[in-house]
Amino acid sequence: MQAQAVGGRTASGRALDILQTPFFLVDEVAVRRQATLIRQYTDGARCRLLYSVKANPLPDVITILASYVDGFGVSSLSEAHEVRTAVSTGGNLHAFSVAIRPTDVEELTELADYVSVNSFGELSRHRPLLENRVQIGLRINPGTSFVEDPRYDPCRSHSKLGVPLPELMSGDITGVNGIHVHANCDSHDLGHIKSMIDHLAKTIPDVLDQVNWVNLGGGYLFEKDTEIGPLAEAVEFLQSQFNLSVFIEPGATFVRNACSIVATVLDIFNSSGKTIAILDTTVNHMPEVFEYQIQPDVVGHINGAEHSYTLAGLSCLAGDLFGEYNFDKPLTIGSRVVFENAGAYTLAKAHTFNGIALPSIYTLSEDGSVRSFKNETH
Ligand SMILES: Cc1ncc(COP(=O)(O)O)c(C=O)c1O
Repeated sequence: MQAQAVGGRTASGRALDILQTPFFLVDEVAVRRQATLIRQYTDGARCRLLYSVKANPLPDVITILASYVDGFGVSSLSEAHEVRTAVSTGGNLHAFSVAIRPTDVEELTELADYVSVNSFGELSRHRPLLENRVQIGLRINPGTSFVEDPRYDPCRSHSKLGVPLPELMSGDITGVNGIHVHANCDSHDLGHIKSMIDHLAKTIPDVLDQVNWVNLGGGYLFEKDTEIGPLAEAVEFLQSQFNLSVFIEPGATFVRNACSIVATVLDIFNSSGKTIAILDTTVNHMPEVFEYQIQPDVVGHINGAEHSYTLAGLSCLAGDLFGEYNFDKPLTIGSRVVFENAGAYTLAKAHTFNGIALPSIYTLSEDGSVRSFKNETH
């Protein structure tokens, strides 16, 4: 297994081989390729495209994506600063936070162009500072559940996310310029957007008549075979019936397949008939592996191949395990193991449990050279 086999490309010389692991690698070509694809889809649907920074807030990623998107979606003052520091203009900045600390509001209005609030209480508290400085959005909860796991379903019962439609219909939306409606997670089906919009048009036509824009949120995965029709129909409907500008702000789909984590085998031993390979990374560098109990993709793994290992993380947690993998050549101490498709919600959620340092961060550039990146949080 070779660390340089990343995203199907080969880094120049031994550039990646000599880097100390664990490291996180952004493949610039793969980020650009995916951003081009997403942009083609959203242009085709006549919808404005934002990158939701929470999926991967690295400055390099933000800088690369700036030329493909109309702006960025951020969840906090800190992410707003990250965008404005990485790219001085960066297009429209849309901020949404479940609640905004009163001390952050003023500064947020200096950085963001659109600020969406999560409740009528937040609206009345913050409106005086937001009004006439930014576009004010209100997050609504359409009540259309598409996600099986309630931990990731913004529309779960008694959700904390957005104003439910019955409350919205009896509330006062004076001063609200747009609505924010993030309602999905990792969906391949843009038909969900169409059915959600149909539901809103039937239930809250008066609200849609009163506002100027809608932000459809993220939660959708754009791939080569994505059926774009339902998104195009939903956008066309919102524009023609309600004269709305439409934004979409996916995150994970821009970056998931474009980044890897490279680790080294530190120890190999037998445990009651299974061969355990301990790595110098941990599931805490990819917390969703533990959260969702998913097995991440590893370069060189072949189902049924001769050499079988439980790949295990370095922390003291018994369940710090990546899963069972098979390779056609044996691993040895010092072998490199490359976790592919590790670009979304990894570093942003990673932590240093047991004092295990976060991975270093590098970008594999278009010309095959490797750029390193350091900041105070990594
Ligand atoms: C408000 C909002 N917008 C956008 C996103 C991005 O979603 P994803 O990365 O699944 O596309 C999220 C994810 O939680 C979100 O909460």
